[in-house]
Amino acid sequence: MPDEEIEVYPPSEDTFILIKVAKNIVKKHKILEIGTGSGVVLRELAKYSSQAIGTDISFAACKLAKEECSSLSNVDIICCDAASCLRGEIVDVVVSNPPYLPLGDGNPMWDGGREGIEIPLKFAKNAYDVLKDRGVLVIILSSLSNIRRFITEADKMGLKLIYSSIVPIGLMEQLVTLIMKKGELA
Ligand SMILES: C[S@@+](CC[C@H](N)C(=O)[O-])C[C@H]1O[C@@H](n2cnc3c(N)ncnc32)[C@H](O)[C@@H]1O
Repeated sequence: MPDEEIEVYPPSEDTFILIKVAKNIVKKHKILEIGTGSGVVLRELAKYSSQAIGTDISFAACKLAKEECSSLSNVDIICCDAASCLRGEIVDVVVSNPPYLPLGDGNPMWDGGREGIEIPLKFAKNAYDVLKDRGVLVIILSSLSNIRRFITEADKMGLKLIYSSIVPIGLMEQLVTLIMKKGELA
């Protein structure tokens, strides 16, 4: 995927996996997508939710996402760092296909930090802060990133793993979707 010419992350395999998994969870709920990129995930999930908010740090991405979702009256796009523009525990479901590769090239579209989980952990902490009690985070990671440590650190934050699914992409990598719940498991 890495290509210096791309300005906004194009819908890719991980984009469609996130839509497929999250579609069954967002039903009529208020949702937030952190790192909305082209807005394709938000557009699809907004059809099933009461209100949908998308954030992205890239102005170009926010502009494109706004166009992508222009026909939907329940969508807001905010250009900000993760969910730092939101206050309070106001969201039922947070979804994210974050930058998760351990590349170290600093590109916000795919570089997740040294272990590929530093940016995803920041997104998870921001998700925790805006999720209602028992709210759900759906997040994608790569088998190339340190998923085990991500799960441990998220657990310490109060996000408990309830489900994971794995999809191989090519011979060397798998995409892992984690579904985590805020609060103690029943
Ligand atoms: C892998 S792309 C996913 C885009 C889109 N959601 C999709 O699935 O196709 C990651 C997105 O996160 C955004 N991003 C990176 N760092 C961010 C941050 N600190 N706050 C908000 N968005 C960020 C990038 O600009 C990019 O659009």
